[in-house]
Amino acid sequence: MFGKRPNTPGGGGSGFSKAPASTPAAPAAEAAKPAAKPASPGAGVAVKARPAATEAPRRPAPKPAAAPKPKPKTAAVETVGAERSAEYYEIKTTIFNALIDTIDLSQLARLDNDTAAEEIRDIVTEIISIKNVAMSIAEQEQLLQDICNDVLGYGPLEPLLARDDIADIMVNGAGDVFIEVAGKVKKTNIKFRDNAQLMNICQRIVSQVGRRVDESSPICDARLADGSRVNVIAPPLSLDGPTLTIRKFKKDKLKLSNLVDFGSVSPEGARILEIIGASRCNVLISGGTGSGKTTLLNCLTGFIGEDERIITCEDAAELQLQQPHVVRLETRPPNLEGQGQVTMRDLVKNCLRMRPERIIVGEVRGPEAFDLLQAMNTGHDGSMGTLHANSPREALSRIESMITMGGYNLPTKTIREMISGSIDVIIQAARLRDGSRKITHVTEVLGMEGDVIITQDLFLYEITGEDAQGDIDGRHVSTGIARPNFWDRARYFGLEGALADALEAAEA
Ligand SMILES: Nc1ncnc2c1ncn2[C@@H]1O[C@H](COP(=O)(O)OP(=O)(O)O)[C@@H](O)[C@H]1O
Ligand SMILES: [Mg+2]
Repeated sequence: MFGKRPNTPGGGGSGFSKAPASTPAAPAAEAAKPAAKPASPGAGVAVKARPAATEAPRRPAPKPAAAPKPKPKTAAVETVGAERSAEYYEIKTTIFNALIDTIDLSQLARLDNDTAAEEIRDIVTEIISIKNVAMSIAEQEQLLQDICNDVLGYGPLEPLLARDDIADIMVNGAGDVFIEVAGKVKKTNIKFRDNAQLMNICQRIVSQVGRRVDESSPICDARLADGSRVNVIAPPLSLDGPTLTIRKFKKDKLKLSNLVDFGSVSPEGARILEIIGASRCNVLISGGTGSGKTTLLNCLTGFIGEDERIITCEDAAELQLQQPHVVRLETRPPNLEGQGQVTMRDLVKNCLRMRPERIIVGEVRGPEAFDLLQAMNTGHDGSMGTLHANSPREALSRIESMITMGGYNLPTKTIREMISGSIDVIIQAARLRDGSRKITHVTEVLGMEGDVIITQDLFLYEITGEDAQGDIDGRHVSTGIARPNFWDRARYFGLEGALADALEAAEA
């Protein structure tokens, strides 16, 4: 089998030669080699691919003389896996280097992950026994896992990626890894060996979407195989090492009933949202980063009829529509030569030629706002999108400035008329300071009065105080509107009774 250590130094064949520097496997090899290799007696020998067996019966790496770094553990640090000692890292580096000297990474890359992991395990187990490293079975298992993660996966990120309760992973240079769990950001004990290892992992992630990060193009968006969204910004733009932000893809998307259970929306509020979705209102979901906009959009799409043709446009496909007739589109960033970009605007414009009944735009952030409004205005009602704003009013002015900045030479009043004529409802999502996510406004757009767009709130979230744990107390309140503007729509879809009931229940 390839990759096995040959029994004689000459038996190595081509399969054992080091990968040339330009192969995709090279970064991993570089990553594996810290700048200062622990001095090995064989270091003077030039032949790199020399099988580790020949340096064999050496003593385990001497214990580090330097005192292990004191590790102050504060309550805010989330411990992920076992805390590793400096000695552990020393041993790991030694074994890692022996492994890299032994196997051909480019060949390894051609195997599927399970087979490759099997190979690595075999070789590492052999190295451990040859090098006479004293380790318990558990430690050895940990080491095998870590090494497999480094060679085949995303190294120290793997245990975080494997967890489904994490919403975001934020890596600020090799030493600082933060996660968001249950709305709260916490520091973890995870560390990368150095910025070079972190950079290599970033490189490995973005290379999957055919991109590179380096000094000349230090910003890059990418996606993991599981659908998680990734942003990398590297030095010199980020000053303290490569910075990696991952929005984890949630396999099991939250449903509206979950949001009710979490207290993000009241049961009556949820019913009204359901009616808004089913009666083909044009909806904008507004909120800050991570406030739950996409989640909410996904919930709302659940109330779209089975017989409607739905087209979704996203930067990175996150929505999970359950209907049978869905076309999913995704934008494309420019390639390395700066060509081939397909923008959100291109997609939304193209949508209109695809006979959509509803258009769903993952995130509206630019001139596509104009096209989406046009679509909403021209018979594709029930279209939806999210946008970044802190209140429904701000959402309206954001839309307006997106259109203005898109280079449409229209008078302000015309733009506002277009906005008020197309958007029916704005739903505001927010992440409160205690980490909880709430729907804070359900607001209708009524029309124009002079130059001003008139809105009316149907529902609000009122903060009443804060309990001893710092959690926010509050409640959803109805504003007492008995006949919302979309009443006729609801009636058209046979939902007026349900709407009246929900509004009445909300008042109680
Ligand atoms: N109401 C909620 N309660 C708890 N967690 C939520 C809620 N809404 C969203 N989340 C979680 O918050 C994270 C961010 O949500 P997302 O919808 O992607 O935000 P946005 O699109 O606003 O950036 C996700 O992990 C999601 O599962
Ligand atoms: Mg989103």
